[in-house]
Amino acid sequence: MRFAFFDTKPYDMPSFEKYGKESGVTFKFYETRLNEDTVQLAKGCDGVCVFVNDMVNAEVIDRLCEMGIKVIALRCAGYNNVDIKHCYGKIHVLHVPAYSPYAVAEHTMAMLLTSIRRIHKAYNRTKDFNFSLNELTGFDLHGKTVGVIGTGRIGRVFVDICRGFGMNIIAYDKFPAKDSGIEYVPLDELFQRSDIISLHCPLNEESYHMINADSIAKMKKGVVIVNTSRGALIDAEALLEGIKERRIGAACLDVYEEEADIFFEDYSGHIVEDDTLARLITMPNVLVTSHQAFLTEEALSNIAETTVKNITDFFDKGSCANELCYRCGSVEDCRKQRAQKCF
Ligand code: NAI
Repeated sequence: MRFAFFDTKPYDMPSFEKYGKESGVTFKFYETRLNEDTVQLAKGCDGVCVFVNDMVNAEVIDRLCEMGIKVIALRCAGYNNVDIKHCYGKIHVLHVPAYSPYAVAEHTMAMLLTSIRRIHKAYNRTKDFNFSLNELTGFDLHGKTVGVIGTGRIGRVFVDICRGFGMNIIAYDKFPAKDSGIEYVPLDELFQRSDIISLHCPLNEESYHMINADSIAKMKKGVVIVNTSRGALIDAEALLEGIKERRIGAACLDVYEEEADIFFEDYSGHIVEDDTLARLITMPNVLVTSHQAFLTEEALSNIAETTVKNITDFFDKGSCANELCYRCGSVEDCRKQRAQKCF
C-alpha cells in the first residue's frame, strides 16, 4: 500500500517509516500541504495521509476520487479541515481518536502555570542575569474555579490534573459524562463563575466562536482563557478587545483561528501579515505555542502506530474501527451494516 503523506515535518518521519515498514505501508513524504494545487501528487497512491492544516475540501475530495483514491487517513483526532459530508459515500475517512490525551492535557496545565506564574518572563530575565522579582507576582491555583468546556478524553485528564491542584471544577459538555463526579453547569453559568476557562471541545458549527464578545462580557474580570483545542472556538478579535479592555487577565493559546498559514513554519526574520496574531503576541499576558500540545514522543509513536493500523485494517479486513461516519455522526454510534460502517 502506498500513501501520499502531506505536510511532513522531520519529527513525523521516523515513527511512520518504522510502523509502515513493519506493516507493508509505504509513505511518500511531501513537505507541501494537501490542497487543490497539490492533490495531483497523490496520483498512483492508495490513499493520502493528512494533518490538521491540510485542506480536504469538496474539490480536493472529488479530485482524489477521480484518481481512484479510496482512503483519507488523518493522523490526528480533529477533522474540521475535512468536508466529511462531501466524503460520505465517496471516500473513506479514518482518524486517530486518541493518541495521548495526557500530552494535550499536560500542555494545557503547562501553559496555564507558565502564564500565571510568569515562568516565561523569569526564564528570560535570569538568562540576562536579571534576578529582580518585580511584576512576577502570580496567584495560587488552589481554591480557584476552573471551567472546563468539553469533558471527553482530554478534558477528563485535565479535570484530574486540576483536582490534584485542589481546584474547584465546573464543566459544560453537550453530553455530560455520567458518574464522573463533575459538576456540570449551563455555559453561561460557567462563564460567570470561572477564574480559568479551558477549551476541550471539538470545533463544529455549534462551537464556532463560542468565546466571543458576548461570552467575554459575561466572564469574571481577570479570567484566564486557555485554548488547546481549535482556534476558531475563539473569536480572536473579541479576545484581543477583551485583553485591551483589561477584562481578560491572560490568554494561553496553542491554537489560533488563522493558524493554517502560519503555525508549524519558521517566520523569524519575516513580517507576519496577521495583525491580530501579531498584536496578541505583543501582549504581556498572552502566551502562544504553535499547535504543540500533541508533541510528545509517546503521542508521535501512538499516532503512527494507529494510523498504520487503521490503513491495514481497512485494506485487509475491509473495515476500520476508527472510520468517521458522516451519516451517524460519530464513530462509536455507527450502526454497522454488513459488518461495515454505514458508508
Ligand atoms: P473527545 O471527542 O474525546 O471529547 C470532546 C468532548 O466535547 C465530548 O465530550 C463532546 O461531548 C464534547 N462536545 C462536543 N461538542 C460540544 C459543544 N458544542 N460544546 C461543549 N462540548 C462539546 O475529544 P478529545 O480527544 O478530548 O479532543 C478534544 C479536542 O482537542 C479535539 O476536538 C481537538 O480539536 C483538540 N486537540 C488538540 C490537539 C493539540 O495538539 N492542540 C491535539 C488533539 C486534540
